[in-house]
Amino acid sequence: MNFTGKTAIVTGGGSGIGRAAAIRFAKEGAAVAIADVNSAAGEETVNLIKSIGGKAIFVYTDVANSKHIQELIQTAVNTFGGLHIICNNAGIGHSEVRSVDLTEEEWDQVIDINLKGVFLGTKYAVPELIKAGGGAIINTSSLLGLKGQKYMSAYNASKAGVVVLTQNAALEYGKYNIRVNAIAPGVIDTNIIDGWKQNERKWPIISKANALRRIGTPNEVANAIAFLASEEASFITGATLSVDGGGLTF
Ligand SMILES: NC(=O)c1ccc[n+]([C@@H]2O[C@H](COP(=O)([O-])OP(=O)(O)OC[C@H]3O[C@@H](n4cnc5c(N)ncnc54)[C@H](O)[C@@H]3O)[C@@H](O)[C@H]2O)c1
Repeated sequence: MNFTGKTAIVTGGGSGIGRAAAIRFAKEGAAVAIADVNSAAGEETVNLIKSIGGKAIFVYTDVANSKHIQELIQTAVNTFGGLHIICNNAGIGHSEVRSVDLTEEEWDQVIDINLKGVFLGTKYAVPELIKAGGGAIINTSSLLGLKGQKYMSAYNASKAGVVVLTQNAALEYGKYNIRVNAIAPGVIDTNIIDGWKQNERKWPIISKANALRRIGTPNEVANAIAFLASEEASFITGATLSVDGGGLTF
């Protein structure tokens, strides 16, 4: 895998899966723009990349904000001279309650970040990818975008939306040599699962609810993201790749 001369944007690159993907892109030669609402975490990812000799910048970005996304893409292009890869990865969970008890505010926030964020990242990256002669978009869905789970209504809906939005963009932009794929991680060891880890009753079940009987690491997901972004995946588009230890079939 070689991303020398390529520019990649990773949203949610301050932590977890996004940080692992950003470091992986940089190790393989890409210049990386890290987008996050957590500036300290985003800057830390930049420092980690620079410490291994890579090129990276941090751009404060709320993915639900159209103006932020447009500025992010312009900054990446102006700094590194083009855009080839965008990883629409930023996402949040929500209160684990029945849909009747989920507030409309929380519903809107989850849909805005997890689904509209992917729409905006695609909408404003595509013209730059076309200018570059093509590229790759990798969207982060979830195992919970492929099957329903109690108390996760907004998250389920947002991540299922990402799967079909990925197919939509693959169809619309394939003729420009832009491939659009999604990943569907299972339970991965990042900050987003802190609440589950602290649940003494549920964690022993959740942490083994797949064929491999363990949770995954951010690097295991970054491997899949890097593959989908690379030339090795040149005939793969519109796909959603499960990275879940067999969680979907469990
Ligand atoms: N960890 C898992 O088990 C798991 C499973 C399936 C899918 N995912 C998805 O993976 C993606 C990455 O999550 P993670 O597990 O690395 O969690 P994480 O909490 O470690 O990372 C998420 C990052 O996104 C950032 N972020 C949150 N809201 C944002 C916004 N509005 N704009 C920009 N950045 C924002 C956070 O600051 C954080 O750095 C998410 O889309 C998540 O839904 C995670």
